[in-house]
Amino acid sequence: MQKLSIHGGVALAGEVRVAGAKNAALPILAASLLASAPLRVTNLPQLNDVRTMIRLLERMGVKAETGAHEATLDASGLTEAFAPYDLVKTMRASILALGPLTARHGEARVSLPGGCAIGERPVDLHIKGLAAMGATITIEAGYIHATAPRLKGARIFMDTVTVTGTENLMMAACLAEGETALENAAREPEVVDLARCLIAMGARIHGHGTDVISIEGVKSLGGAEHSVMPDRIEAGTFLVAAAATRGNVTLTAAPVSSLEAVIDKLREAGASIAVGDDTVRITLRQRPRAVSLRTAPHPGFPTDMQAQFIALNAVADGTAHVTETIFENRFMHVQELRRLGARIDIEGNTAIIAGVERLTGAAVMATDLRASASLVIAGLVAQGETLIDRIYHLDRGYERIESRLSALGARIARVS
Ligand code: EPZ
Repeated sequence: MQKLSIHGGVALAGEVRVAGAKNAALPILAASLLASAPLRVTNLPQLNDVRTMIRLLERMGVKAETGAHEATLDASGLTEAFAPYDLVKTMRASILALGPLTARHGEARVSLPGGCAIGERPVDLHIKGLAAMGATITIEAGYIHATAPRLKGARIFMDTVTVTGTENLMMAACLAEGETALENAAREPEVVDLARCLIAMGARIHGHGTDVISIEGVKSLGGAEHSVMPDRIEAGTFLVAAAATRGNVTLTAAPVSSLEAVIDKLREAGASIAVGDDTVRITLRQRPRAVSLRTAPHPGFPTDMQAQFIALNAVADGTAHVTETIFENRFMHVQELRRLGARIDIEGNTAIIAGVERLTGAAVMATDLRASASLVIAGLVAQGETLIDRIYHLDRGYERIESRLSALGARIARVS
């Protein structure tokens, strides 16, 4: 199995272009199921999850033409509204097929996503919302079976802010009869990017980006062309890597308006950050200061950046408190960071990180996507070699990370 070998101690320097966002690309690809004409998606990141989503759609009869960073998806000849366990178990986001299939096809059979390293992650709010729109839902043999001659608009209050839940119900409501209001909706930039794509396909959506989204259903949606927004989590990961290595890096094609919470915390750590229309330049020449934070739904501090900031705090001056409020088991990287010499205690859902002068390279194991990013950052700082195992987690969400980090001066290579 492939591993990443990193020799730390190099201050990252140079320019890197931010790729398209995984968490916008996946729902946008699923939205093709709603259309009776081709949807062309550009600025697609080259990631395993994107390939899995396209395979899932093809399995349903969607015709897909793919290029390096684009795909044209034609769902006019859908053959089967079925998302099998063997695909869903590899990618929870397959659940995003449930809303569009039920709305467009009147029926869907989608495997229930299994367990996940970072938390229980139920999909009860997706199901509850579809039922509120009149779908009949049963769960049999590990599959969600939804039927509805035609969904009906409804007022849906979501007990917890859920990103893919909001996306699934927003897509379903596009073809429902009448008006739907999604209350306590997720405000994530990826939800807004999906709404923009749906509007280009002919949907009537208002309030995306706020906590109340209203959708007036239409009879059908057409084709469109949409360029996926840049990835704010990938951008944030590069910024933290630059800060932790005391470097000087410029991001291009950066989703500047989606990075406020991350940039604020990096400035608190002592970084100087210059922001342009779609560029972010970060410089930090001295030891970072410890920064405490609490994760929250957007526009709060993103949970997908929590692990990277724990790695930064591991070598910072001072003690930081990092509280995770979204997922109940998202500190798996802590045990691995301790192997590199980090001093971290866990109390409930808070990690207390006492910064150390230096980390020392060791063999470590990735446990989930963002945990693996934190190990890469720690490896870039640590003295000696860090060897990261199970990097398939990393490939799910970062495109060719080792060659882009090498271009910034990092001593990093994929080894088997
Ligand atoms: C999305 O997951 C992202 N994934 C996650 O990114 C991200 O961590 C998460 O949002 C939070 O920002 C994609 O967009 C593909 P949620 P999602 O539903 O939608 C609870 C990454 O690293 N909940 O917003 O699955 C849930 O258990 C990934 O790229 C219910 O209780 O997350 C959690 O505690 C990891 N019932 C909270 O809500 C439901 O029906 C938020 O989860 C749904 C969710």
